[in-house]
Amino acid sequence: MRLGVNIDHIATLRSQRGTPYPDPVDAVPIVELAGADGITCHIRIDRRHITERDVRLIREITKTSLNIELCTDPDIVSFVCGVKPNHACLVPEREGEQTTEGGLDILTHREEIKKTIGVLKDAGIQVTLFIEPNESIMETAKQLGADAIELNTKAYCEASDNPLDNGREIEKLKRASIAAYEVGLEVHAGHSLGYHNLKGILSVPYIVELNIGHSIISRAVFTGLEEAVKRMLKLMGKNI
Ligand code: PXP
Repeated sequence: MRLGVNIDHIATLRSQRGTPYPDPVDAVPIVELAGADGITCHIRIDRRHITERDVRLIREITKTSLNIELCTDPDIVSFVCGVKPNHACLVPEREGEQTTEGGLDILTHREEIKKTIGVLKDAGIQVTLFIEPNESIMETAKQLGADAIELNTKAYCEASDNPLDNGREIEKLKRASIAAYEVGLEVHAGHSLGYHNLKGILSVPYIVELNIGHSIISRAVFTGLEEAVKRMLKLMGKNI
């Protein structure tokens, strides 16, 4: 199972004061040398954390794999096509939201998503769809042309304190993961994952990649980024 470290929150800290530091670009070699498998960042329409300058430099120095999260806005899609990350993860975006609020509605926005997947794939980029753990939409995700899906783990993480809800959310993730695997999609998972709730996710079959940001960057404030990444890799059972 691969670990992609989302470095947006380093840029969030920078935005809060309008300073040139801390620079998310500086995080890339630290995260990679700690053993992570990839770098993830989200370029939002409002550019409130990651900017074009960041993405260009991050692309230049990333030696592992770069995954950019984006919505279907044509200007952002065109920018990302020019940058050529290894993966692009399509997410919904609502103005003013604190973080991504849920998975894409791939049934309602079918045509728009299909078109965007085509544009990204023509640029040689592998495309992931960030969706809810709903087994009934995996066939559609495949038909739209996605290579992978990222299962939204937010509901599971929010249910972490309640064993009943927790068990139900894990079952949902398991069914969704199996359905995705069976139609030939690679399965990723992410959102709100942390050191305290990782264990349940490890019981979900077929997940080959986790994308984790907030918990790692938060821990790094106390322990440093290298330790925070290594600790997560250790919990994932990776030999580092
Ligand atoms: N995956 C997706 C699609 C996201 O939008 C985010 C948040 O930017 C993450 C993973 C990482 O979430 P967190 O920061 O809560 O670990």
